[in-house]
Amino acid sequence: MKKLIAGNWKMNGNLSANHALLAALADALRVKPACDVAVCVPAPYLAQVQSLKAASIDLGSQDVSAHPSGAYTGEVCAAMLKDFGVRYAIVGHSERRQYHAESDALVADKAKAALAEGITPIVCVGETLAERQAGRTEEVVKRQLAAVIHTNGHCISEIVLAYEPVWAIGTGKTASPEEAQSVHSVLRAQLKAATDQSARVKILYGGSMNAANASSLLAQADIDGGLIGGASLKAADFLSIIAAAQ
Ligand code: PGA
Repeated sequence: MKKLIAGNWKMNGNLSANHALLAALADALRVKPACDVAVCVPAPYLAQVQSLKAASIDLGSQDVSAHPSGAYTGEVCAAMLKDFGVRYAIVGHSERRQYHAESDALVADKAKAALAEGITPIVCVGETLAERQAGRTEEVVKRQLAAVIHTNGHCISEIVLAYEPVWAIGTGKTASPEEAQSVHSVLRAQLKAATDQSARVKILYGGSMNAANASSLLAQADIDGGLIGGASLKAADFLSIIAAAQ
């Protein structure tokens, strides 16, 4: 399957830095790469990135409201994202689960709201260090995915899944290719039990993926791409990861 390399800019960037980053990416990606590429940007910059990005790069958001419209101050709904050409919406990132108390059920509802507008949710799952050390990794990621399967039924084949061990995010500590693959194969089996279309679901790895470790992670059987934080803010690093995915 075609790999997907998605940048998660998090709460970084400004008009001029975005401009420089997008120009460098556009220059290098004038010819469409053999993998899919996306950048998930802060909501205020959706219009800027939509107008400046190369055609070979898809636009993503970092969150989406579970509600279609209405009295939800500060939230952004899927239809608004759609207005700016958004193709992907990250949901359930561990930073939102942790700092905004997002529950498994809310994350599942957000995935549903994205799908209802034709936006592909990039659903993040992952265990904390304490959970890994307690031998609970499988239980945690399966519980997180089960909620999304329960709420989305057969539409589960339309999502992108991202395994992001919390202890690897922004820490420089990456799961080894074998550690990541073993969780990816558990998730693949869970998807397979839920839909006969499971082979279409991309499972990305995220957590300190960089130019040096991307090839070995992406070589694993069930790693179909990457969700890249820090390294997506530097054009050369992001482009090296894209090269490793081709
Ligand atoms: P990182 O972030 O690559 O900086 O570890 C990944 C993510 O949080 O999506």
